[in-house]
Amino acid sequence: MAQSNQPLRIGMIGTGFMGRAHSNAYRKVANFFDCPRQPVLQAVCARSEDAVRTFAARWGYRHHETDWRALIARDDIDAVDICTPNDTHRDIAVAAAAAGKIVLCEKPLARTVAEGAEMVAAVERAGVPNMVWYNYRRVPAVTLAKQLVDEGRLGKVFHYRARFLQDWTISADLPQGGAALWRLDVAAAGSGVTGDLLAHCIDTALWLNGEIDEVTAMTETFVKERHHNLTGRTEPVGIDDACAFLARFANGSLGTFESTRYARGHKALYTFEINGEHASIAWDLHDLHRLSYFDHRDDSSVRGWRSIHVTDGDMPYMGKWWVPGLQIGYEHSFVHQVADLLDGLDRGQPVAPTFRDAQVTQQVCEAVLASAADRRWHHVGQDAR
Ligand SMILES: NC(=O)c1ccc[n+]([C@@H]2O[C@H](COP(=O)([O-])OP(=O)(O)OC[C@H]3O[C@@H](n4cnc5c(N)ncnc54)[C@H](O)[C@@H]3O)[C@@H](O)[C@H]2O)c1
Repeated sequence: MAQSNQPLRIGMIGTGFMGRAHSNAYRKVANFFDCPRQPVLQAVCARSEDAVRTFAARWGYRHHETDWRALIARDDIDAVDICTPNDTHRDIAVAAAAAGKIVLCEKPLARTVAEGAEMVAAVERAGVPNMVWYNYRRVPAVTLAKQLVDEGRLGKVFHYRARFLQDWTISADLPQGGAALWRLDVAAAGSGVTGDLLAHCIDTALWLNGEIDEVTAMTETFVKERHHNLTGRTEPVGIDDACAFLARFANGSLGTFESTRYARGHKALYTFEINGEHASIAWDLHDLHRLSYFDHRDDSSVRGWRSIHVTDGDMPYMGKWWVPGLQIGYEHSFVHQVADLLDGLDRGQPVAPTFRDAQVTQQVCEAVLASAADRRWHHVGQDAR
């Protein structure tokens, strides 16, 4: 591994949505943040030679590979970044850790708790830094919510409410499997909206409101069979198209979570609201630079929901960007995560969420799916597929 003030040489695996989001973040971070080590786009891997060569040229990667094992074997790579479908995470992460690389993995950590446990064991056995890309923690308004909660402004928390709504799988003609549609194939994805969308909601909830003790859930698969792009046959659909669950948090508050890809009109409506004894907080991904806040202790003549435009220089991360009043967007959450990664590496500190942190989200997801299957309450941590 290169020494601490040397460039951090990235080996990226996957050139889709996240491959682009992360590459963009690595390229931008040093322009805006004081980085102890500058990321270098050293090599990128995808299976198609033509596609990966084009991607490497567009984004400025020095080398390309078509087999992730060859990328991990390179001695000019410090960090392996896993931006591939969920069924590949375990094998790549375990191999990268064994090779002594820093391991960065897209969410969800794995398809199952059992896979996640292997991954946690691998990075901890190798003693390599590791991190999972639950990027919404680094949206400045969400980071501000965390600060307000930690300052105790809400008082005792009663309710945590989260939703993640989309509408892109309603057509029964949509196939499952293969490029772009692996999310509909349970073998590749592990689960449907639970691992894909609720995992984000759960990660944020654990961060803002602490541990979840138990859950009860229902799921539905609205379209039972779809053409499978890889087999060419009509196959049963194994993912949950929609999931709703109730949760009891360790702090005594009640949680309600809902996600679906069948909410016509919603593209990526991730919202959460927290209601405390003194104050409430609400956030909406479609308006991500704002945080809504209501404080009952305000004088009644001015009491009401305020919409905080999170752009001032003293707001989380915002001092590094433009001037007050000018907002940033989705892509910047990844830039912030890279900045925090570089800072953590410099200080020799773990950068959250680590694999071990993300494994707790896996446990909640597993309890949710187990509860939906047997229609009982499940304690988090009792289930392992
Ligand atoms: N943090 C977030 O908000 C967020 C958003 C989207 C996706 N994700 C996660 O990121 C991961 C990738 O999702 P995506 O939307 O970028 O998918 P995608 O389908 O857009 O891209 C996947 C990429 O992986 C490549 N790939 C697949 N199998 C491979 C293999 N065996 N070897 C090398 N390359 C391979 C594909 O060619 C493609 O370039 C998933 O785990 C997903 O859950 C996270």
